[in-house]
Amino acid sequence: MTNEIKNRIVSGMRPTGKLHLGHYFGVLKNWINLQKEFESFFFIADWHALTTKYNQTDDMKKNVEDVLLDWLASGIDPEISTIYLQSLVPETAQLHIYLSMITPQNWVERDPTLKDLAKIMKDKQENISNLSYGLFGYPVLMSADIMLFNSNFVPVGIDQVAHVELTRDIARRFNNIYNVELFNEPQPKLTQTPLLKGLDGNKMGKSFNNDIKISDTPETTEKKFKSAITDRNRIRRDDKGNPDNCEVVFDYWKLFGSTDEQKEICEGCKMASIGCAECKKKLTAKINKYMAPIREKRQDLEKHPDYLKNIIYEGSKKAQIKAKEVLSKVEDAIKMYK
Ligand code: TRP
Repeated sequence: MTNEIKNRIVSGMRPTGKLHLGHYFGVLKNWINLQKEFESFFFIADWHALTTKYNQTDDMKKNVEDVLLDWLASGIDPEISTIYLQSLVPETAQLHIYLSMITPQNWVERDPTLKDLAKIMKDKQENISNLSYGLFGYPVLMSADIMLFNSNFVPVGIDQVAHVELTRDIARRFNNIYNVELFNEPQPKLTQTPLLKGLDGNKMGKSFNNDIKISDTPETTEKKFKSAITDRNRIRRDDKGNPDNCEVVFDYWKLFGSTDEQKEICEGCKMASIGCAECKKKLTAKINKYMAPIREKRQDLEKHPDYLKNIIYEGSKKAQIKAKEVLSKVEDAIKMYK
């Protein structure tokens, strides 16, 4: 393998709306650091969004723009990273076709994330037969995304690791079947930050209405945070609290407060010298201060739709150049007519 290929990463996100702090601390901060070290491809997975939202496409354009705005405002740098839109790099679909031919059906059936998705659909009372051919192919499409650049690392959350493992299996199988050493076996690159919980203590997600968006105003942030779950045993203002039973609020303090501030708040809570409302007010002030430059940049970028479009188009063109190289080798390996 050449040096260039050795240092390549790829990752994507489905455009399902504005991103929240869980995305920022769990994924984006990781990408922002990695982009300095690796040749990076970050893409908006609009085809993956269609695997479940094929009948709710009114917001597609807006969702793509929102993801892009959140990325750029957070610090994904189009000067050093390639930012692209999946559907503007149709080589993805071509590779997906080839990979789908060699992937045994039971490998896909085993995929735990797919099982989860199927369960979610069932829980939402959607007919299980609505699990479309496209959704079934989700993990193979994701393998195509990763293998399209012959990436070595895939920075993802723990929930996506099974997909990367499947990609390794598919890459190995391709090499074996066609007797080539074309694909390397990509590794997941896990984020160190633990998952940030939603304000109600559950997994953060927009459908649960428990998240704080990167783009929320300071007022909205404060209002939302007022509802955050606290120590249930601390009912009255002068009850003594226990920070260990106030995980959500203290997880945020760990992210946004200095060690001294954390200590001060902890003690104040235990001695009931500070109430929950005051603690939350202080905390949201910290969050808002931290997020201010990102939010400002986002508002600024929003005023320049042409600039945003240009980034997507230029990035997609750049990605296509690399993708075509790999695809051409794939077609040679399969001995397609050229
Ligand atoms: N499945 C990922 C998610 O839901 C998004 C994704 C699609 C992706 N293709 C990818 C991530 C390739 C990393 C690499 O978050």
